[in-house]
Amino acid sequence: MALIYRPSAISTHLVATLLTLGLINVSIIECRRHVSGGSDVTYPAINCRKHTAFLTDFGGNGDGETSNTEAFRTAVQNLSQFENDGGSQLIVPPGRWLTGSFNLTSHFTLFIQFGAVILASQEEGDYPLIEPLPSYGSGRDGPGGRFSSLIGGSHLTDVVITGDNGTIDGQGSIWWSKFHKKKIKNTRPYLIELMYSNQIQISNLTLIDSPTWHIHPVYSSDIIMQDLTIHAPVDSPNTDGINPDSCKNVKIQDVFVVSGDDCVAIKSGWDEYGIKFGMPTEQVIIRRLTCISPDSAVIALGSEMSGGIKNIRAEDITAINSESAVRIKTAPGRGAYVTDIFVDKMNLHTMKYVFWTTGAYGQHPDPGYDPKALPKVDRINYRNVVAEDVKMAGNMGGIEGDPFTGFCLSNVTIGLSAKPKKLQWNCTEVSGVSSNVTPEPCDALVDKGSIDCEYPSDPVPIDMVQLQTCSFSTQKKIIQYIIFLHFNKN
Ligand SMILES: *[C@@H]1O[C@H](CO)[C@@H](O)[C@H](O)[C@H]1NC(C)=O
Ligand SMILES: *[C@@H]1O[C@H](CO)[C@@H](O)[C@H](O)[C@H]1NC(C)=O
Ligand SMILES: *[C@@H]1O[C@H](CO)[C@@H](O)[C@H](O)[C@H]1NC(C)=O
Ligand SMILES: *[C@@H]1O[C@H](CO)[C@@H](O)[C@H](O)[C@H]1NC(C)=O
Ligand SMILES: *[C@@H]1O[C@H](CO)[C@@H](O)[C@H](O)[C@H]1NC(C)=O
Ligand SMILES: *[C@@H]1O[C@H](CO)[C@@H](O)[C@H](O)[C@H]1NC(C)=O
Repeated sequence: MALIYRPSAISTHLVATLLTLGLINVSIIECRRHVSGGSDVTYPAINCRKHTAFLTDFGGNGDGETSNTEAFRTAVQNLSQFENDGGSQLIVPPGRWLTGSFNLTSHFTLFIQFGAVILASQEEGDYPLIEPLPSYGSGRDGPGGRFSSLIGGSHLTDVVITGDNGTIDGQGSIWWSKFHKKKIKNTRPYLIELMYSNQIQISNLTLIDSPTWHIHPVYSSDIIMQDLTIHAPVDSPNTDGINPDSCKNVKIQDVFVVSGDDCVAIKSGWDEYGIKFGMPTEQVIIRRLTCISPDSAVIALGSEMSGGIKNIRAEDITAINSESAVRIKTAPGRGAYVTDIFVDKMNLHTMKYVFWTTGAYGQHPDPGYDPKALPKVDRINYRNVVAEDVKMAGNMGGIEGDPFTGFCLSNVTIGLSAKPKKLQWNCTEVSGVSSNVTPEPCDALVDKGSIDCEYPSDPVPIDMVQLQTCSFSTQKKIIQYIIFLHFNKN
């Protein structure tokens, strides 16, 4: 349909004509009045776009059954022409949009409107197989390839995935049951994976039921993930919320996660592959995260950490019914380091452990790892922690001959559950200091009287990024619809 738009000229006349023809009802008029400003949806983003298109422009069908894989791929392909001409935004309107895997482009915004659901196809064939990540050497569900993620992208700059709380539904149940029955030959798709990219924003969305991890930025930098609701059943396998992996300058803020695995897991590659790739995750801030994860951590550091993890801050963390709070997990063979970790203000309800570190996590990509590659764990700070209904305060293990050092715990008040463990602190191959910790910690955490553990006061670079107010209009869509009715009538 080729149309020339002269919105101001056509609209009043057409609406009047159509009204007399009895073709449109009052709700459309209501709608029009609602959008008369011309830009009825505004949203915050790192960059606004010059060009706007709707998924329906590319043949999209939101009936929940028709595949939109081609529509999404054609749309992105088409809009990539604007990469160097002000960028583009693709609007996914209300409806249920079934699709297989598709990639994004640079200087691009995917906007998922309120009432829009991107529904992930449950057919393996809709997720082309790709190579394992170079820093992993193997798929995470086993040797072999990986299914492409539902929404992907590689070597991109300036990508926004946002909405006014639109939804991406991974429809993961079929993948979980195949995984449980060991019927998966390749690693399950992630919901969103952006690789080798920078300037990324993922915000104002609800993500549910990913086949495995929900958001996986990898080999990327300058990433803002905020105002997200992430939800998978607490017994679903490996449905981690957000996993920054070999990434730098990352903000995770105002995020609510219910998951069968870690709510946030910071990673950087696996054993000899991760060591060789050598790309750490660093300069991360996690702020106002709320987590429900009965069998996993609120924030995990590792277990894949072979490129190193350093300079991580977490503040204002809330957990309800989770296994542990900020957990370090690693093993001989991982190499690298986890250092300069700072945690301030955690509010924890119903926990197995408050403090949990593990130096014998196991799991290796293949037998080729070097058991002498020992990780260095040092300068781990936790302060201002309140917990209630806790089974065990601290289960803190390091590695024999490679103790985890430099722990600092201050102002920690742990209320125990009705049936707590007899042993409240098990500190093996760890050392550090403590101050005002109840129940009284192990001797390995030397009581320093009254001190505050360190929390950096300098700003994090990612906090300097100012979001702009962007917008688009749905008016064009409504006029197009009216004209469509008009032409069809005549
Ligand atoms: C895609 O881009 C081409 C070239 O700019 C344009 O002519 C065409 O109309 C676009 N297709 C759609 C479906 O919008
Ligand atoms: C998406 O990009 C990845 C990485 O460049 C590529 O391997 C894959 O084939 C692309 N998928 C599609 C559907 O184009
Ligand atoms: C996104 O979330 C922020 C914070 O809750 C809110 O201020 C903003 O209005 C939301 N934007 C949209 C488009 O919903
Ligand atoms: C977004 O939708 C989810 C799921 O319906 C809801 O739980 C959440 O409160 C909503 N978030 C906002 C900011 O409206
Ligand atoms: C101890 O931590 C609690 C909870 O974060 C906080 O309310 C309180 O002010 C802290 N006390 C001191 C002395 O910092
Ligand atoms: C304490 O932890 C170590 C290793 O972390 C473990 O081997 C040991 O069994 C634990 N002791 C108790 C009493 O749980």
